[in-house]
Amino acid sequence: MKNIILLGPPGAGKGTQANMICDLYSIPKLSTGDMLRDAVASGNELGKKVSNILDSGGLVSDDIIGSLIKDRLSKPDCSMGSLFDGVPRTIGQAEQLSEMGIIFTHVIEIHVEDQTLVKRISGRRFHTASGRSYHIDFNPPKNLGFDDISNEPLVQREDDKPDTVLNRLNVYHDQTKPLTEFYSNLSQSQDLKFFKVDGSQTVEDVFEAIKLKM
Ligand code: AP5
Repeated sequence: MKNIILLGPPGAGKGTQANMICDLYSIPKLSTGDMLRDAVASGNELGKKVSNILDSGGLVSDDIIGSLIKDRLSKPDCSMGSLFDGVPRTIGQAEQLSEMGIIFTHVIEIHVEDQTLVKRISGRRFHTASGRSYHIDFNPPKNLGFDDISNEPLVQREDDKPDTVLNRLNVYHDQTKPLTEFYSNLSQSQDLKFFKVDGSQTVEDVFEAIKLKM
C-alpha cells in the first residue's frame, strides 16, 4: 500500500511526475487542482465559489479541500493507495488528512528555483478536452498552438498568466513550504519516507531520481 504526497511549487513538475508514478504503482492521482478546475468548468456551486480564488492564485479553504479528498477517498480505486498531487498545501490540511486516518508512506519534495518555474509555467499550454499538457519550448506540440492528436487549439490556464504566477509562488513559500519541515520532522518518528529531488533535471531524470529513492 502506497500513499504518496508530491510537494513542490507551482510548475515544479508535480503533475508530470504524478502521472508517471501512478502508472508505475497502479494507484490513482488525487489532484485537488484538477478537481477544482473540473468544478469550475462544470459551473456547479463549488465551481462558482472557487473560480475567483483559482484565477487569483490564492488557496481554497481547508474545509473545501478536506471534503473533496474525503469524498474521493471513498471511491474503491483508492483502496490500494493514492498519489496526492498538490495536497496538502497547508499545515491545517495536513492535520485534516491525518485525522481522516490516512497513513502516508512517502513524501516527495520536488525542488526547482523560482526563475525556472516562471519560465515553465508561462510556456505551458493545455488541450482542454483531454488535459494533455505541452510547453512551447520544453515539450512543444508538432504544430505550435495545436494538440498533436485532435489538432484542436491549445489554451493557457488563466492562473498561468505572469502576475498570477508570482502570487502563486508567494503563496507557496508562505503556506506550503513549511510542510517540508513538518513531514521531515514526522519522518524521524514514523514509518514515513521523506526525500527531496532536484526538479530542474529532465523529466526522465527526475523520475529516475524518484524511483531510486522510493
Ligand atoms: P494545481 O493545479 O495543484 O497547480 P500548482 O500546484 O500550481 O501546480 P501546477 O499544475 O502549476 O504545476 P505542476 O507542479 O503540476 O507542474 P507540471 O507538471 O504541470 O493548483 C491550482 C490552484 O488550485 C491553486 O493555485 C489553488 O488556487 C487551488 N488549489 C489546488 N489544490 C489546493 C489545495 N490543496 N488547497 C487550496 N487550494 C488548492 O509542469 C509545469 C510545466 O513544466 C509543464 O509545461 C511541463 O511540461 C513542464 N515540465 C515539467 N517537468 C519538467 C522538467 N523536468 N523539465 C522541463 N519542463 C518540465
